[in-house]
Amino acid sequence: MRRLPPSEATGLRTGARHRLAQLYRPADLVVLGLGATIGAGIFSVAGVQAATAAGPGVLLSFMIAGIACLLAALCYAELSSTMPTSGTAYTFAYVIFGEVWAWVIGWALILELQLASAVVARAWALYAAQLLTDFGIRLPYPEAFSDGFALFILALLTGIVSLGAHVGLRALWVIVSAKLLAIAAVLVVGAMHIDVANFGDFFVEAKPSPTPPDTVLEVVFGQSQTFGWFGVFAAASAIAFAYIGFDLVTTAAEETVNARRAVPKGVIRSLVIATVIYLGVAIVMIGMVPYAQIDVDAPLSGAFRIAGVDWMVHVIDIGAVLGLTTVILVLLVGQTRVMFSMARDGLLPRGLATISRRFHTPSRVTWVIGVIAMLLTQFVPVFTLQELVVLGALFAYLFVAVGVIVMRRRLPDLERGFTVPLSPWLPGLSIVATVWLMVNLQVLTWGWFALWMAFGLVAYLLYGKRHSLLAANHAKVGRGRHRR
Ligand code: ALA
Repeated sequence: MRRLPPSEATGLRTGARHRLAQLYRPADLVVLGLGATIGAGIFSVAGVQAATAAGPGVLLSFMIAGIACLLAALCYAELSSTMPTSGTAYTFAYVIFGEVWAWVIGWALILELQLASAVVARAWALYAAQLLTDFGIRLPYPEAFSDGFALFILALLTGIVSLGAHVGLRALWVIVSAKLLAIAAVLVVGAMHIDVANFGDFFVEAKPSPTPPDTVLEVVFGQSQTFGWFGVFAAASAIAFAYIGFDLVTTAAEETVNARRAVPKGVIRSLVIATVIYLGVAIVMIGMVPYAQIDVDAPLSGAFRIAGVDWMVHVIDIGAVLGLTTVILVLLVGQTRVMFSMARDGLLPRGLATISRRFHTPSRVTWVIGVIAMLLTQFVPVFTLQELVVLGALFAYLFVAVGVIVMRRRLPDLERGFTVPLSPWLPGLSIVATVWLMVNLQVLTWGWFALWMAFGLVAYLLYGKRHSLLAANHAKVGRGRHRR
């Protein structure tokens, strides 16, 4: 239950801790947020959820997931404005709840980010292969090429991240702008092919699900349904994947100029923009094709094919490849910062907190993360574990919301650059919304998560607990007192 003093939460105040250079300005944070958020989710999730779970009501599902994430974002904004640290939820937990909880959150974040980069790299490989095929280039061994593409993109982006935040940031601005252009094309051209009749059957009548109960909620109630109100709410959990990424803005806090004010704005603005874009794409998707005719393998391109606008398929392929590139880039940066923070505190090997003299960035930990992601794409069926990414993220959202309430009581006088309005009600609502999304995930996902956490606790007992710098400091102070 050792707690980190708030004054030590960042590397900025104490010369003894490793420091990262300050680089990000408010607009950069919005680009970072949009870079991380808009990716694999946007081109498929609206169509798949409309076809299989919610019908046109998927629009409401997007709003529900958006509101749940906005509540979480407000909580992140408050804690990050109080402790602008690259460890984000991990460091917040260290200060508010103590070392074991910090480890638990850090371990969940590692799962979320490491797995997400592998999942998105795999999706990138599929879109890259599709792009080549659509341009008439036939790949002789599609499987081998797909494996190779996933390795290629991870190696390339790991290299860019390890060269320093400046290089990554410049690349990010260019690619995020290009992907926004592709999305603008989807919105404008798609809007010209909307048939209002497709919105007519907005709430599709509930039906028994073709699969046996598999989410926590379904197992508890012993039945599974799709569509209807339940389907609309249940789809929101799958849609949460598309929103993941706004939280990563907070991992840039230590490298942000005037972070106490800039980070809350960056988190909230990027999430609001992403939500508006998602709603726009969902409206186009639903408006273009009757929900029952959506092609779940390629919903958006399928819709444009049906509308006879074949050239848009290329735009979508290019937009997806670009979009997924920035998601992987920011996931790698975020993961690097979390692991760097854990290593800086001694909970992971201290060598991982080394900052390269040449590039002023934690290059070593970047390569460790990149190589693990590459191995995951080659040896683990990562697509089947996509829900674990969502559970890992939601777990962190939950602790951040509880953290706001506890910190208001325990450390009321800390300087806050932003405060969640109507506390404790809004953080309380964030807890309820997050738990709702969590219980709509599969029991199997919870099983894998429990296994990962149990493994993590063993790792903490065997390594982190013994090497914690805070523990060493406590012991030193204790010995000093004893001598006196
Ligand atoms: N939100 C990110 C995506 O949809 C993870 O790819």
